[in-house]
Amino acid sequence: MDGLSKSFWLVAFALVTMSMAKTDVEPLHAVVEGTNQFSSLFFQYVVGDNSGNLIISPLSVDVVLAMVGLGAGGNTEAQFRKVLSLPTPNNLAAIGYQTLIDNLNSVKDNILTLANKIFIAESLDINPSYKNLTEVYFRSASESINFVESTKASETINTWVEKNTNNLIKNLISPDMLNAGTRLVLVNAVYFKGQWLHKFNTELTMDMPFHVNKDTVKNVATMYREGYYKYGELPNLNARFVVLPYKGNELSMLIILPNEIEGLLDVQKKLQNVNLTDILNQGIEEEIRLHLPKFKVESKMILNKNLIEMGLTDAFTASANFSGISNEKLAVDTVVQKAFIEVNEEGTEAAAATGIIGVGTSAVIFQRQPLVFKINKPFYYAIQSNNVKPSILLFEGLIHNL
Ligand SMILES: *[C@@H]1O[C@H](CO)[C@@H](O)[C@H](O)[C@H]1NC(C)=O
Ligand SMILES: *[C@@H]1O[C@H](CO)[C@@H](O)[C@H](O)[C@H]1NC(C)=O
Ligand SMILES: *[C@@H]1O[C@H](CO)[C@@H](O)[C@H](O)[C@H]1NC(C)=O
Repeated sequence: MDGLSKSFWLVAFALVTMSMAKTDVEPLHAVVEGTNQFSSLFFQYVVGDNSGNLIISPLSVDVVLAMVGLGAGGNTEAQFRKVLSLPTPNNLAAIGYQTLIDNLNSVKDNILTLANKIFIAESLDINPSYKNLTEVYFRSASESINFVESTKASETINTWVEKNTNNLIKNLISPDMLNAGTRLVLVNAVYFKGQWLHKFNTELTMDMPFHVNKDTVKNVATMYREGYYKYGELPNLNARFVVLPYKGNELSMLIILPNEIEGLLDVQKKLQNVNLTDILNQGIEEEIRLHLPKFKVESKMILNKNLIEMGLTDAFTASANFSGISNEKLAVDTVVQKAFIEVNEEGTEAAAATGIIGVGTSAVIFQRQPLVFKINKPFYYAIQSNNVKPSILLFEGLIHNL
C-alpha cells in the first residue's frame, strides 16, 4: 500500500539540555531509568554508524518516541515498551514524561527549552483522547497542516523549529520530505544555552597540539583555567574524567579522556557497561590546570536504521499498529535528529568558593601541585542533569578531530 509507506513522518530534533526539581518522584524516577537505559544502548548503535565528531540527544529521541509509543497498540506497542523501557501502566509513563518536560523547562540559571509539537494532516482523524494525551502530558500543541502544499508546510514547520531554537536550526525539513501521503510530523526541539559556573578567560585561550591519532598532530584553539573540578581515574576504561559544572550547578559536562591517543574506540565500547552515575560518585574535587579545546559540532541523522536494529521494527512497516492515535492505518516514515553544540569560554563567574566544596579532609591536596589535565586527544563528552538521582543524560558526543 503506497500511501502507507509515506504516511507518517516523525522528526526528532535536538539541540541540547535540562535539569529537574522534585515532584512526582515515582513516575519521574521510572521514566528517567528507562530513558537512561534507552540512551546508553542508542548511543552504541549510533556511534557504530558514525566515525566523525558527534552530538546527539538520546533524550530528545526518547521523548518524541514515547509520545508515539503511547499511541501504539498490539505488537507495535510491545516493541516501543521494550526499546524505550517504558514504565507501565501508560498513565504512570505519561505522568513521568510530563514531570520530566516541566522540569526541563524550569531550569533557572541557563536557557533551556524543550518543545514538542505535532503537525497533523488536515485530513487525518486523530483520536480525541490521544490529542489530549499529547497536549496534557507532553505539553504538545497540535496544528493542522496541508502537507500537499509541501513548500508552505515545510516553511510552517521550519519556522516553528527556528523559533524554538533561537534560529540555530534552520531548514530542518525540505519540501520534498513532505507529500500527500504525509500524515503526521512530530517535532521535538531542545535548545540549551549554558554558561560555565567558572568561565574561561579568553585571554588565556591559545593554540595547543591536539593528537588526532598517533601520526597526526594539529594546533587547535584551547581554553585554559586553573581551579577546582571533580576529577577521577577510570582504570577499567583506561581513561580519566573531569566534570565542568554549569552556572547554578543544575547541569554539568562530563569529559572522559582516554589515556591512549587512540583509546577512544575502546572507551566508547566499554561505556555500555558503565554506570555514569557511579562514575561521577567516584570523583573528588581537585585543583586542576585544565586545557580544553573549543569545539563546535553539528549533526543531522536519519535514525530509522538504528531504531529498527534496536527492535522497533513494526512501527516502520505496514504491520504498524497506532490504533491509539487514529483509526487510519499509520506507520512511521522517518525519524530525524538535528543537533548542535558549541563549547567556548562563555559563562558567568560564580563565587570562588563554590568549586572548593567537598575537598574536605586532606591537607595533602592543598600542598601538592595542581594536576595538569590536557584534553589533547579524541574524547567523549556528555551533558547531564545533577538534580535527579539517577542523573539523566541530555546529550552525548565524541570529538575525534578539530
Ligand atoms: C492494534 O492494537 C489494539 C490495541 O492493543 C488491538 O485491540 C488491535 O487488535 C490491534 N490491531 C491489530 C491489527 O493487531
Ligand atoms: C484530558 O486528560 C485529562 C487528564 O487525564 C482529563 O482530566 C481530561 O478529562 C481529558 N480531557 C478530555 C477532553 O479527554
Ligand atoms: C546507576 O547507579 C545509580 C546509583 O548507584 C543507580 O541508582 C542506578 O539505578 C544505576 N543505573 C543503572 C542503569 O544501573
